Amino acid sequence: MTDRCNLRCQYCMPEREYVWLPREDVLEFEEIERLVGAFTSIGVDRVRLTGGEPLVRRELPRLVALLSANGAIRDLAMTTNGVLLDEQASALKAAGLHRVTVSLDTMRPERFLALTRSDVHSRVLAGIAAASAAGFPLKLDTVVMRGVNDDELVPLLEFGASVGAEVRFIEYMDVGGATLWSREKVLSRAEMLSRLQGVYGPIEPLLEESSAPAERFRLPGGRVFGIIASTTAPFCRSCDRSRLTADGLWYLCLYATSGVDLRGPLREGASVPELASLLRSVWGRRADRGAEARLSMSARAPLVAAGDLRRDPHLEMHTRGG
Ligand code: 5AD
Ligand code: SF4
Repeated sequence: MTDRCNLRCQYCMPEREYVWLPREDVLEFEEIERLVGAFTSIGVDRVRLTGGEPLVRRELPRLVALLSANGAIRDLAMTTNGVLLDEQASALKAAGLHRVTVSLDTMRPERFLALTRSDVHSRVLAGIAAASAAGFPLKLDTVVMRGVNDDELVPLLEFGASVGAEVRFIEYMDVGGATLWSREKVLSRAEMLSRLQGVYGPIEPLLEESSAPAERFRLPGGRVFGIIASTTAPFCRSCDRSRLTADGLWYLCLYATSGVDLRGPLREGASVPELASLLRSVWGRRADRGAEARLSMSARAPLVAAGDLRRDPHLEMHTRGG
């Protein structure tokens, strides 16, 4: 939706300054609708709105209404930091959004400030409450960083239960933009599980056939949570996702260093069938295994240096769906 964000999460936007996509390159809602139409015409049936922060884009419910008129989409979701969700939840629901995932890395306001450089923890909690009241199925995403918020697994799980949301713990990833990443700060899935077992007792893995990135687990009381272990146990083999930036570049992998320009053909008047045939031929040749390739590296450091991120902001996680 946008590369802009009203927060500065340490694992995503730790730098002082950013280079933004030129405004005139950012796709209009009607252009997005048309591109999504090309994707759904060749079989895509799940669409997720992300950013940056999708809710900083004005009139987002209008886009949701355009997309929800596309009957081929059986899952229309949004990932948000929740700051502006309080004011927009009911309009988004009325426009036809199916479900919402809110990023929530801490239950402590002072830690939230340190982690995001913004003192709006209470707005996020209000946003979660509003989404729940509006009737959205809810998930909470937590990026776990050692020494930052790894002491909050239990409080976050308990909070999730209190608002009826499934919590997913995400390993800290060395994606573009995560310039402070180091291996030592990653709390692995194995460690998360052993800490949670220590508190709750035996945890049962749920065996599921799915292309979703989270593995799901059940606590003794029956509560379910997820872990996304992209850093220590990547799932490239079963990944069927791709990402479209706000300015219409199409990336086949979170770690890809180049994308396919769809804005050009779109603005030159390509028809939906023409766009669809471009998508089909590119996807047919896809060989991306980004996270697995990272795993096999011996010395692993941030993916892209800060200077290179300024030269090509498309490399940023917040440009391609962070
Ligand atoms: N590691 C893991 N997840 C990240 N996200 C952004 N940056 C990172 C990173 N370095 C994801 C988180 C966040 C969402 C918006 O993007 O899941 O909640
Ligand atoms: Fe945080 Fe999401 Fe904004 Fe990145 S895009 S700084 S993860 S809220």
